[in-house]
Amino acid sequence: MNEPVGLGALDSVLSRARTAAEEVTTAAELQRVETELLGKHGELTLVQRSLGSLDPEQRRHTGRRLNEVRRQVEEVLAERRLLLRAAERAQRLADERLDLTEVVGLRRRGRVHVVERTRQELEDVFVAMGFAVVEGPEVETDWHNFEALNIPPAHPARSMWDTLFLDLGPPESVVLRTHTSPVQIRLMQRQAPPVYAVMPGRCYRRDTPDARHIPTFHQIEGLVVDHGISFAELAGTIETFTTAYFGQDIHSRLRPSYFPFTEPSAEFEITCTICKGAGCRTCSNTGWIELGGCGMVDPAVFQAVGIDPEVWTGFAFGFGIDRCAQMRHELPDMRVLLENDVRILEQL
Ligand code: PHE
Repeated sequence: MNEPVGLGALDSVLSRARTAAEEVTTAAELQRVETELLGKHGELTLVQRSLGSLDPEQRRHTGRRLNEVRRQVEEVLAERRLLLRAAERAQRLADERLDLTEVVGLRRRGRVHVVERTRQELEDVFVAMGFAVVEGPEVETDWHNFEALNIPPAHPARSMWDTLFLDLGPPESVVLRTHTSPVQIRLMQRQAPPVYAVMPGRCYRRDTPDARHIPTFHQIEGLVVDHGISFAELAGTIETFTTAYFGQDIHSRLRPSYFPFTEPSAEFEITCTICKGAGCRTCSNTGWIELGGCGMVDPAVFQAVGIDPEVWTGFAFGFGIDRCAQMRHELPDMRVLLENDVRILEQL
């Protein structure tokens, strides 16, 4: 005569699960129903907790029914989830559909991508200063990308570059270049000094994209090798480039740093173009933005390519082309450079 505790509650949970599953229209709503019924504080869990107070016979009976109901509720909700997901996917496809005839109708003209244009403008600045433009491969040997640059295997400095390896030859012997510095090596191998060259190109790192980093990016490398080159010429070159490219109110400064292939090394920063040095969020209130690295070519690098470091000295620098575009066009987020949304690209 006394109906085992919870059996009525169980039936009601099941029928409410069925109704709710039919009524919900989004995956988020369904999730809420699921938590209410099955969650840690859900109704089935409450019934489960009350099992302890039943006598053994009732407990067995109710327990069995509880398991059945839980399985059925899960099934009902899972089925509904599949349908909702399919519907949401179909909706998204419909929303993102591009009517290409509309674009053709607008007679939009193509234009050079802002990164490519930035590269051309940077090349122009350096060519005007007497530099040649040289290119190298994006797929590099470990030797060019690291070893010849004074970074032997397993050197801790390797962790400065999150490297993508290609499945080619012996393990980890072929990389997607992590910087343009290997082009220095290739150039010095085939051309005797004096050298005055810039080397632009695409680089790759295993980075998570954020407002100031993208995993496929561009650098421009500079290399000067001649008699009696000093740090003063490095600093002068960078300042000349900075004002020529960013304008007379933007300046550069060098701060001590470390790179295995230069000694001494520095990172160079420019006046924050957003706040003109006053301090803002983009520059973390310092008034300066880091653009790249530089330094005097390490004698070990000259030795790797057969140049006598007693006779020649030189400097090198490298910085991000995308970062330059970001600073010059005051882009809060660098990722737009990869998204290729014409509404944004047309403004740049
Ligand atoms: N290759 C360095 C980097 O990508 C930058 C650099 C270039 C530093 C040349 C010094 C000299 O981090």
